[in-house]
Amino acid sequence: GKSGYDHYMLKEINEQPHALRECLRGRPRELDASIEIDELEGLERPERVHFVACGTSYHAALYGARLFREQGIQTNTFLASEYDVDAIPVDEGTLVVGVTQSGETADTLGALRAANRIGAETLSVTNVVGCSAARETDYVMYIRAGPEIGVAATKTFASQQVALAMLSRALTGACSSAFIKALRALPDQVQSILDTSQAATVADEYVDADAYFFIGRGYNAPVALEGALKMKEITYKHAEGFPAGELKHGPLALVTERTPVFSMLTGDSNAEKMLGNVREVESRGAPIVAVTDVPAQVATHADHVLEIPNTHRLFAPILANIQLQLVSYWVANQLGRSIDKPRNLAKSVTVE
Ligand code: F6R
Repeated sequence: GKSGYDHYMLKEINEQPHALRECLRGRPRELDASIEIDELEGLERPERVHFVACGTSYHAALYGARLFREQGIQTNTFLASEYDVDAIPVDEGTLVVGVTQSGETADTLGALRAANRIGAETLSVTNVVGCSAARETDYVMYIRAGPEIGVAATKTFASQQVALAMLSRALTGACSSAFIKALRALPDQVQSILDTSQAATVADEYVDADAYFFIGRGYNAPVALEGALKMKEITYKHAEGFPAGELKHGPLALVTERTPVFSMLTGDSNAEKMLGNVREVESRGAPIVAVTDVPAQVATHADHVLEIPNTHRLFAPILANIQLQLVSYWVANQLGRSIDKPRNLAKSVTVE
């Protein structure tokens, strides 16, 4: 059941602290600052990584791919439906990672099968024990989020991000105690967001907007895409997500005083450039909602602040996304949408 929540989506958003604890269980090793993923024993540092995924899982893969690249591994991310092993160099040195909550998405299974045929090593990162992806790949890592009933992926996205962050360290051996400490803190930090979020107030304020924009740079860019996808799916309203630098190359033309812009302003190295992009939309009169771990520094640029706790620079996007999930949920709720079963959508898409 929904345990007293109006929707599975809200229940699942609230289950995230537990889901993340499960994902972490037994994997980070404080003693030697390493990450061990038992089910991946024997899998070595790959020369190249290709991520293949769809929808929300693709956004998690974009986030994960950056972590791998930072570890010096040549990494690309593909929408599974566009993965073409005849056109893209894939060989035995390539690890092809399918990120798929259900493990039954036809596009992703198709990409993994093609990779298998060509002799690449394959790995699925999935939530469902014994799913097709798990059965058909050389290796499987479980995200352990528990069943997700709402069609919109929420807790599984956070768990995918954490799983991929761990995977990037497990396969490269490069970890630190700061990284592990920050990972361990995430479940409580997510809980504190759930306990204090002002997302419902922000949703009330902007429920009548024409469209919603989401912008972020670097590790936050995939979360901007995910924020927009979630908004579209469950509210049926126009939403766009961009790496913030792209705004001025076209989409800025759509920005008016009726398009709130959710801006991921976390205290990382891109803060200056992000503020520049925020000024671009501010000067068109757009309301700014800052999702930030440095509220004092951004308050003058924002109409609303959705605060997240301070964390490792790599994990701020995981926390920022929780606020975006809540905003979409509360907008959809205000609009009386069919939140757990949006029109035209199915939980797992088994056709190509
Ligand atoms: C969005 C959503 C979809 C799925 C996509 C892939 O909320 O749920 O975009 O993420 O269909 O599904 P999986 O991860 O099961 O392969």
